[in-house]
Amino acid sequence: MSATPTAAVIRRLEKTARAAAQKSYSPYSRFRVGAAILAGSGRIYTGTNVENASFGLCNCAERTAIFTAATQGERVVRAIAVYTPTQTATSPCGACRQVLNEFGPDALVISICDGQDRIEATLAQLLPAAFGPKNLKPRC
Ligand code: THU
Repeated sequence: MSATPTAAVIRRLEKTARAAAQKSYSPYSRFRVGAAILAGSGRIYTGTNVENASFGLCNCAERTAIFTAATQGERVVRAIAVYTPTQTATSPCGACRQVLNEFGPDALVISICDGQDRIEATLAQLLPAAFGPKNLKPRC
């Protein structure tokens, strides 16, 4: 397990998530979400929600960021910051929690918003008893 990110790194992650929301493609919900991931390499990757006229195909900011990091060869997510344009902080949806579990079962999840509210939790707290790679090990 890697060390907890420093306060400075967390601040940078939050700032990056907030900035990422500006690139959100959300013409249907008008809910501009930004995410930033601290990957195993120490690099930060961003994501926004990307919506689709076929509503069921919308992708959340968290998953966009995770897939972007994975595409660059990252296999560990140490922390993720998520910004929502709300007054109270919101935690990632269930689908994003499951996708995050693949690469970040020990990840720190930070939710920030336009208000002072913030949520800091581990993925294990948000998705206890998760189904993940370890459950398929005997088959590999
Ligand atoms: N959304 C995210 O990107 N992340 C969240 O944590 C909550 C929801 C997006 C999906 C959709 O584009 C819009 O916000 C409204 O649900």
